[in-house]
Amino acid sequence: MSRVRVAVLVSGHGSNLQALLDACAAPDCEAEIACVVSNREDAGALERARAARVPALVIDRDGQDAAGLLALLRHHAIQLVVLAGYLKKVPDTVVAAFRDRMLNVHPALLPAFGGPGMYGRRVHEAVLASGTRLSGATVHLVDEQYDHGRILAQWPVPVHPGDTAETLAARVLAVEHQLLPAAVRGCCRQVLAGASPSGLFVAGERFVPSVGPSQPLDHALIPA
Ligand code: GRF
Repeated sequence: MSRVRVAVLVSGHGSNLQALLDACAAPDCEAEIACVVSNREDAGALERARAARVPALVIDRDGQDAAGLLALLRHHAIQLVVLAGYLKKVPDTVVAAFRDRMLNVHPALLPAFGGPGMYGRRVHEAVLASGTRLSGATVHLVDEQYDHGRILAQWPVPVHPGDTAETLAARVLAVEHQLLPAAVRGCCRQVLAGASPSGLFVAGERFVPSVGPSQPLDHALIPA
């Protein structure tokens, strides 16, 4: 079975990368993690890549060497790029080269609580400050603006009374670990079929705002 060659870009711990590596260990997985790329040589995610015997590559710290990044992605024959806790803006030329072939996972329900400066703890602090009772995780296509591209998959997560940024982040992250592999696999199926991941996506019919992270995946919005 042919697999889609995926590059994962990371800056931090790489727990989402681990979820992808674990999913790709299944013999029927449509994705193959062909390389992991980090702008930080001390990123824990690189250790996870090495442990999985996946090439672990380091690029410039500000991530703005577009030609270098493109050359690296081409060298590894990458078909799909996944940003999993990657904290730098991807240069426009790289976004253009992977139009509709680059995904990001964001720890809130976009289009709310996204944009420049909205990353990590700040996202959850903003959610709590807003008083909303609903957060979640989003997988979306990457375009030239932060957290702006077409939404591909979302999973709602309740905000509990007394939540802190840490407790909410942990609840959302647990959902990301299921949503991101499902979305990547769905996109890879579409790529293998010659379609674009920006194509058909559906909401699970039982999607309701009160579902929690313990609900099965068909409560999420997932690729068709
Ligand atoms: C995740 O919450 C992701 O949504 C955000 O950064 C975090 C990365 O966590 N973009 P990890 O490095 O995958 O553990």
